Parts: sequence; C-alpha cells; structure tokens
Amino acid sequence: MFRVTCTVAGLFSIFAAFALYAAVPSQNEPVLQEELPVFPTPGKVGFGEGVFMCTSAVRIETQGVKDPAFVSEIRNELKQFRTSATRKKGAIDLVLDSTVSIPREGYTLVVTPDRITVTASALPGLFYGKQSLLQLIRYNHGTIPACRIEDAPRMGWRGFMLDESRHFFGKQKVFQVLDRMAELKLNVFHWHLTDEPGWRIEIKRYPKLTTVGARGVWEDSTTAPQFYTQEEIREVIRYAADRNIMVVPEIDMPGHACAAGRAYPEISSGGKGRWKDFTFNPAKEETYQFLSNILTEVAALFPSPYIHIGGDEVHYGNQVWFTDPQIQAFIREKGLADEVELEHYFMRRMVDSIVSKGKTVIAWDEIVDAGISPDKAVVMWWRHDKPAQLRKALDGGYRILLTPRLPLYFDFVEHPKHIYGRHDAYTTLESVFRFTDTLAPMWKGREGQILGLQANMWTERIADERRLDYMTFPRLVAAAEVAWADPDQKNYNRFLKKLPVYLHDLDRLGIYYYDPFDPARRPEPWGPDQGATPPE
Ligand code: ACM
Repeated sequence: MFRVTCTVAGLFSIFAAFALYAAVPSQNEPVLQEELPVFPTPGKVGFGEGVFMCTSAVRIETQGVKDPAFVSEIRNELKQFRTSATRKKGAIDLVLDSTVSIPREGYTLVVTPDRITVTASALPGLFYGKQSLLQLIRYNHGTIPACRIEDAPRMGWRGFMLDESRHFFGKQKVFQVLDRMAELKLNVFHWHLTDEPGWRIEIKRYPKLTTVGARGVWEDSTTAPQFYTQEEIREVIRYAADRNIMVVPEIDMPGHACAAGRAYPEISSGGKGRWKDFTFNPAKEETYQFLSNILTEVAALFPSPYIHIGGDEVHYGNQVWFTDPQIQAFIREKGLADEVELEHYFMRRMVDSIVSKGKTVIAWDEIVDAGISPDKAVVMWWRHDKPAQLRKALDGGYRILLTPRLPLYFDFVEHPKHIYGRHDAYTTLESVFRFTDTLAPMWKGREGQILGLQANMWTERIADERRLDYMTFPRLVAAAEVAWADPDQKNYNRFLKKLPVYLHDLDRLGIYYYDPFDPARRPEPWGPDQGATPPE
C-alpha cells in the first residue's frame, strides 16, 4: 500500500499527499509542503494516500505498555481537535512487541486514514515513536498525511552537557531542558556540577561543600549557596529516566576544584592568584579518601553506569605542585618523573576507585596520556585543535564521545554581531549540522569506538535562562540531527525549510532563541562579561 522510499525520493510523491494538509487553516503558522515536520529527520519515509484527521474522539490503545500515563500527552494533544460528522473517529495503537526486529531505540510509525500504529521492540523506541507522533499531530495541526516511517538512531550516545557551577539554573529549568532533549531524541544529560565558582551537589559526609562551596557564581563570589539536595537530584534522575535520558554527573578533578578547596582547604593545592585552590592536593592520602567518600555517595545516587571525573586543564593552576616540599617528596617517593606524571598517577588512582564502585569512568581527552586501561575509561574528545589526541585515543582502543569545542561548545557565539561571550570563533548552526562530514574519515573502520556525540554548554557568560535558551536553540536541533539522522538523509537546505516549525513551537513555549533567518530580529541577551548586572 505504501510507496516506501527514502526521504529524498519521497519528495516526488509528497505534493499529492499534502494537498489536503496544505489546505488546513494555518493559524498563521508555517505550513510545510515537502518534509515531514519530525525532528530529527527520520530514517525511511514513504507516503500513502489520504490523511488521518485527529479528533478528541480518537481511541488510543496500547499493547505491552504497563504505565497508563504513557499516552497522556497524546490524549492532551488530541483534545484541541473537535469531533465532527465529517471527521472519522480513528484509532492510535502503540505496540510494544519484543519479538519484532527493530533496534532498541527504533520504531515504525504507520499512518493510514483510519489508524496510526507505532511499533517498537522496547520502551525507548516506543517513546521515540511517540515523540514523532506528537510532532506530527502538533506541527501538522491534526491532519497527518498517510505515511510510513522506519526510524532508528545513528549514534547510541546523544548528549547535552549543562554547566551549573558557573551559573545555577535550578530544577525547573533542568526539567525544561530535559523535555526539549527528549523531544529531540537526545538521551544523555551530562551534569557539570562542580568547578571553580560553585559546588552544586549535596554530599552528606562533607556539608561544607555546599554551605561554603556552593556560595557564589562566575561574576560574584558572594551570592547565597545554590545547589541540589540529594533528594532533588533523585527527582531530576527520575524525570530524565521517564524521558529515556541517562543523567551522568561530573565531579571535576584534580583541577577545576576551587569550590571544594574553599570549603576544605586541607585537601586543596593549586596555583597562584585566581588559580589558588584550583587543584586537589595529589600528595595527601586524605585527599584520595575524601574524593573516594564523595564518589561513594555519587555512585549510590546516580544509576548511570558512568561517572565523569573531568581531568582537564590541570596545568592552568598547579604551580604550587612545583615548589611544595610535601608534593615534591611524594613525587620522589612514588618514583614519578615530574608533575605531569603526578597528575597521571592521581587519575589512575581515582579511576581505580571508581571502577571498584562498579562504575566506568568518563574523562576529558587529557586522560589518554595517563596510561589507563581502555576498559576502565571512556574519552571525551574536546580539543578540536588536537586531532592527534583523538587519533591516540582511537589507537589506544578507547571508546570515544565526540564533544569538539568547535563546533559543539555552545557558549561560543554564532554571529559576528554578537557582543557577549566567547568570540574567538563562531559556532554556527551550519557548522554544527555539518561537523561529522569532514571528521568522519578520522574514525573510518573504527566506527564501533565512537559511542556518540554531545553538545556542551559552559556557562561562564550565560547567567540567566534567556541567554541559556538563546545559546541552545536552534543549535541543539542541529546536534540532534547529526546524532540521530542517517548521514545519507541529512540535507541542510531541507533542514532549514522545516526549522521554522520548530522555532514557532519554541515561541509557543516561551523559549527564546537565536533566529538564523533574521539574526537582528531577536537581540542577543545580556552576558555577565559586560558587568555583574544587566544594563537598564
Ligand atoms: C574543557 O572544556 N575544559 C573540557
């Protein structure tokens, strides 16, 4: 019954299928005529005859789904469409069937004029089928063209990192971030919870980490403590799990440890001036015990099999290591050649501590030099200007997560007219969309080592929700496209054609964004590098 074709070929048959669709009153919303408004772009799409008309009377049935709330968003979405004599009632079936050969996060979605059927072999796939269905209902204003979608992700790890140390956004904002991630079929929330300005996670054994260490933000060290209690963290983890999102905590060490050092100076060391307390003291047994105790609580709190322990940029603030007699004696006693070997010794011990707690380590790409078994650690390649480090990680047999600063650090501004934030380069929507095109030859033949990718939001220059949204959207939509869509289906011009639908939905939700079609229309929100408070 269906002309099953790839998305590109589907364009030829699409005009007939959309004749009715395009005639639906648009309520001033953009109407697409040549692309299904599903983000990220699904794998195979074919078109049939006619349309499915949504009404509040559509029956929703499930097979194999235990939680009755699983369909509540669909029911809510359908409420807005009134029933009439000319609109058929129709049905929506959501089928979980472990015997079908569909990948765990994949699904098929079949639309006929009478019925919509979403099928998956596992709950994550059915959840993603539901996301696509919700988009089809919402973005097509209830009139869905008959079609068949067969969809599954390109990459297993589709992440977003939020730095809440430099600025703290709070639980409600995190819930909203998780909602947007789920809609875009992103499945890992990397939570950067500790760094220089603030320690943001309650650790029961060391209360000063939050009473003292959670005080301050990037531009003001005197603000009242802001942090998540363990109960709040459990709530976020549950909220994320309901949306097929794993939460991976990062406890950065041995560098970026100023907040902990202010709270517990006895385990701190570091650099000079602004780098004081930048590192934990790697020559004290009590430091290892302190961190191991923290990680025991972290491991118990987060169900994720991974804990991220940073490991980046230690040289920024370890000058004291070179003169401190105790540290120098420790280097000699352990037979280490120098301060760099001491850093690697520290990482090896902490990796072993985490592995003993039943978790796998993730660390920034500096860890590749530390002589750690690739069974124990996953590498986040962040230094786009050091492709040799990626090659070394590949040669070393490590599993790799792609987070190259350019173009996946979203604190870089997008446009030459932007005046706040990181300016030394631009991270445009197109550069995000295309980034694997040029890099992929680097891991040709070793695709199995690339677990996926992640966009990272560092927040030194992002002090409020409005700027956070502006820096996130729509680049996160492009990152999701790279992580999910079949590279053969990716097409930037087609992506741009359907993007206004997504932007319009952000308007509905009150989420501010950068408008790639008309950058001047939406001014860049204030950034804290222009002063501690927004200009009047
Ligand atoms: C990093 O950006 N320092 C990982």
